[in-house]
Amino acid sequence: MLRVTEPLRTERLLLRTLTADDLDDVFAYAGRDDVIRFLPWPKRNRDEVAEHLARRLNTTLASDGDVIVLGMELPPSPDDPAERPRIIGDMTLVLSSVEHRQATIGWVLNPEYQGKGYAAEAASRVLTLAFDDLHSHRVIAELDPRNTASSSLCTRLGMRLEAHFVHSEIFKGEWGDLAVYAILDVEWNARNALDG
Ligand SMILES: CC(C)(COP(=O)(O)OP(=O)(O)OC[C@H]1O[C@@H](n2cnc3c(N)ncnc32)[C@H](O)[C@@H]1OP(=O)(O)O)[C@@H](O)C(=O)NCCC(=O)NCCS
Repeated sequence: MLRVTEPLRTERLLLRTLTADDLDDVFAYAGRDDVIRFLPWPKRNRDEVAEHLARRLNTTLASDGDVIVLGMELPPSPDDPAERPRIIGDMTLVLSSVEHRQATIGWVLNPEYQGKGYAAEAASRVLTLAFDDLHSHRVIAELDPRNTASSSLCTRLGMRLEAHFVHSEIFKGEWGDLAVYAILDVEWNARNALDG
C-alpha cells in the first residue's frame, strides 16, 4: 500500500497530486494533438479535460488497478520570481498487481518543456517511489513503438525492451503495435549504486 500525501522533490521539480486549480496548465498539454498522438486518449476539449482531471486525484495505491497521477510542478525561475509555478506534465503510476508486485509507469510532458530532461528527472523519482515505497518487483512502460521520445526515455531510465507486439490492438482506428519496456528492483538498485 502506498499513500502519497506530501509532494516529492527532484532537483528542479515538485511532484504533487493535481488539483482542479491546475486545469489551465493541464489543458495546455492534454488538449494538444501532438501530445495525445500516441496516448490512448481521445481529443478532449477543456470541459472534458476537467472531467478527466477530476478522475485523477487519487493519492493511494492499494488494490490492483489503482492509479496515482503526480503533476510535475516547475517553480518560478529565480530570474522572474513573479512568475507562477506551472504544471508542465504528469507522471502516472499504476499498481498493476499486488500479488505479483507489478507496477506500470507513464508520462506526459508539455512540448514547451520537452528536451530539457524534466521527464527523465521526474520518472526517475517515480521509479524510486515504485521500488522503495510501493516495493514493486518490476515496473513496466507500455508504448507505441513509433513513439521514439518515449522509448528513448525508457532507455535513459535503464528499462529494457522486453516485447514488441505486432498489431496487438486497434489504436485510433488502425492496427497498432505495442512495445513493453521493463526494469526490475535489482536492476534499479544496481544502477543507482553505480550512479552513487
Ligand atoms: C515522452 C516524453 C515525456 C519525453 O520527453 P523528453 O523531453 O524528450 O524527455 P526528457 O525530459 O528525458 O528529456 C530528454 C532530452 O532532454 C535533453 N536534455 C537537455 N537538458 C537536459 C538535462 N539538464 N538533463 C537531462 N537531459 C537534458 C536530453 O539530451 C534529451 O534530448 P534528446 O531527446 O535530443 O536526446 C515526451 O515526448 C511526451 O510527453 N510526449 C507526448 C506524450 C507521450 O507520448 N507520452 C508517452 C506515452 S507512452
